[in-house]
Amino acid sequence: MKKFSEIYQGQAPESAYFCPGRVNLIGEHIDYNGGLVLPAAISLGITAHIRKNGTRFINLCSDHSEVITSLSIDALPDKTLHWTDYVVGVLHSLHKKELTLEGCDVYFTSTLPQGSGLSSSAALEVLSYYMFCHFFSGVAPERVAMALKCQQIENNFIGLNCGIMDQFASACGEENRLLLLDCRLLEWRTLPLPKDVAIVIADTTKRRTLTSGEYNRRRADCEEAVRLLKKFVPDIKSLRDVNLETFNQFASHLPEQVHKRARHVVEEIERTQLAIPLLENGDIQQFGRLLNECHASLRNLYEVSISELDVMVQVAQSLPGCYGARLTGAGFGGCTVNLVSIEKAEDFANQLSAGYEAKTGLHPEIYVCQSSRGATFI
Ligand code: GLA
Repeated sequence: MKKFSEIYQGQAPESAYFCPGRVNLIGEHIDYNGGLVLPAAISLGITAHIRKNGTRFINLCSDHSEVITSLSIDALPDKTLHWTDYVVGVLHSLHKKELTLEGCDVYFTSTLPQGSGLSSSAALEVLSYYMFCHFFSGVAPERVAMALKCQQIENNFIGLNCGIMDQFASACGEENRLLLLDCRLLEWRTLPLPKDVAIVIADTTKRRTLTSGEYNRRRADCEEAVRLLKKFVPDIKSLRDVNLETFNQFASHLPEQVHKRARHVVEEIERTQLAIPLLENGDIQQFGRLLNECHASLRNLYEVSISELDVMVQVAQSLPGCYGARLTGAGFGGCTVNLVSIEKAEDFANQLSAGYEAKTGLHPEIYVCQSSRGATFI
């Protein structure tokens, strides 16, 4: 790799690793409520090249900034609000696990737009975790355990109280399959997407701002709903434990905002359950309708959409060949996911791009994606 040699004194890398981002099809803001989610790992992702350098320093560099960050293995830093925090968090965690770290040079390149709802931070964590384990011990880590570790790093080191979905998808992705994960039991299986359906991702190019505060507040509202519903449903541990009928019985006891957040969650869990037989039977029309309903709920009840996401979804839903469209990921900016008939996908992408630009003045990025395998040695 030419760039690697330019940056690291003419040396060539020894190994390379890839980790995909993810797109979530349905089950949004559900992982931390213990329900089911349906993401896929995607062909966009992060690649890392690595070599040992014979020192006690781990050097990190990326195509994003091309400035080298040098970390002493013997005095790993705290959080510095820099992209390298995700890697540093992983190194702290591996150090505790007594993996013998050695000095090395690493160069990251990414095709995954940052802060776009495609989970670039989880991809960087999972990539780093997988790479350091495999490169220094020769053994690939167990995938679900790795996802859990990376989620803990995000919760405790980075400070985002996220669920398990993103790290899980980056770790366990499979080619041409969607991943159905029960976030409470951590049991999962895959579901097919019909061959004649494309996953089209549309980036509004509006980046999220203040997400971790808003995200953590949504989570706190859900916890508050559980606390209040306990009076009526004593066994409730998370919103997963109430179905829509029970929820409707007691919802009037919740303050308005908590009610709205919890209603999204309870209805979204039902939508995800409905999606399973639809996908098993290849009923993409009905599955697409669930995506449209999900977007309306994220906009009106969970209030994590922004006008650019709404415009992107509105234009997409009006185009031929589109089965369903909605924002994907945490929201507050970023991308939409669209299910589109493969033969119409190219026209769809062009018309969506033109329609969005005409209404917002912004030029979007559109990707026609494949689902991909999880973190891997390449
Ligand atoms: C972010 C989090 C995930 C999940 C989604 C919303 O991507 O990292 O854990 O909660 O938002 O579904």
